[in-house]
Amino acid sequence: MKNIVRSLFFTRDASDDELRRLIDSEHFDPLFERANEVRHLHFGDDVYLRGLIEFSNYCKNDCFYCGLRASNRSAVRYRLTHDEILQCCDEGYRLGFRTFVLQSGEDPSFKDEDICQIVHSIKTKYPDCAVTLSIGEKSYNSYLAYFQAGADRYLLRHETASDEHYRSLHPQNMDPVHRKECLRNLKKIGYQVGSGFMVGTPGQTLDNLVQDLRFLQELEPHMIGIGPFIPHGETPFAHEAQGSLQRTLNLVAILRLMFPQALIPATTALGTIDPRGRELGLQAGANVVMPNLSPVRVRKLYTPYENKICTGEEAAQCRRCLERRLESVGLHSVVSRGDYPGVRR
Ligand code: SAM
Ligand code: SF4
Ligand code: FES
Repeated sequence: MKNIVRSLFFTRDASDDELRRLIDSEHFDPLFERANEVRHLHFGDDVYLRGLIEFSNYCKNDCFYCGLRASNRSAVRYRLTHDEILQCCDEGYRLGFRTFVLQSGEDPSFKDEDICQIVHSIKTKYPDCAVTLSIGEKSYNSYLAYFQAGADRYLLRHETASDEHYRSLHPQNMDPVHRKECLRNLKKIGYQVGSGFMVGTPGQTLDNLVQDLRFLQELEPHMIGIGPFIPHGETPFAHEAQGSLQRTLNLVAILRLMFPQALIPATTALGTIDPRGRELGLQAGANVVMPNLSPVRVRKLYTPYENKICTGEEAAQCRRCLERRLESVGLHSVVSRGDYPGVRR
């Protein structure tokens, strides 16, 4: 196993069989030591902050794993107004955030013009900040319009690189080929692009996870977000098991070795399955945290999965809590846009 870690460190690659063994391993110290070393080499003790604004939980899609799916009739739906979104940014800016991530379900009531206006207002008010969108699959022209309005980055997890596995997690009208095409379009337009996947979705095999790593090698995204699958009671996967903490951490460390400069968040889902999940993620090589800036009154309503953390706390409380968590593992946040090294338009 040590040889595999060494090969990943020096060549950023390993064979499929070696990757399967590492992904499936029990906690293997040398993997985490190397991943930490690589993070430190490229980013020192710095962790980048992204302020997450969950501006709508309406979704026209019906992903089998997600609590925001259209068929979940018991979800209480909300949308933030343009002004409310800007107020979240005001609060975030005061707290030292220089990236705002606007995330939502695929909500058709936000037209392209609305998204462009929102992006434009944020960039006009806060020209030193980056705006990241995470609003799902759109046409090339829509992505282009958001980019021209000032959006810098886009997060769209590929979810699983296997077409067959993708089809088992989504209704028939959702197409794995289209999702991958969206990612390539985003790159072509010039966004800093984030992709990623869930760990432990029903039916996922070790081979699927190796396929995920291979897909990422081909895409070369700037950001890679992974988190454990966590069941939601109002979905077809209500009774499925949640993803494993160890496997998710193994994959974070492998990703850090394969993509030394990538921006990799210690995700909220990781913090949800273990009280120190995010700290463990950082120690496995993650270098981004994405605290919530949404108004407290809507936080409990944005629940792709259950028991999500940070739904009762004000933005300032979360910010302080996170800083303490970072300090506990010898890291600190920086007031910076935190672009991918060498990339800024
Ligand atoms: N609608 C946009 C999209 O799908 O790209 C953005 C919002 S969606 C809630 C953001 C991410 O949440 C998805 O990419 C998916 O990986 C994750 N997610 C959804 N349901 C989940 C679950 N049950 N457990 C863990 N993560 C989940
Ligand atoms: Fe909608 Fe995204 Fe949830 Fe799928 S994962 S149901 S697209 S919010
Ligand atoms: Fe949100 Fe601790 S990070 S309450």
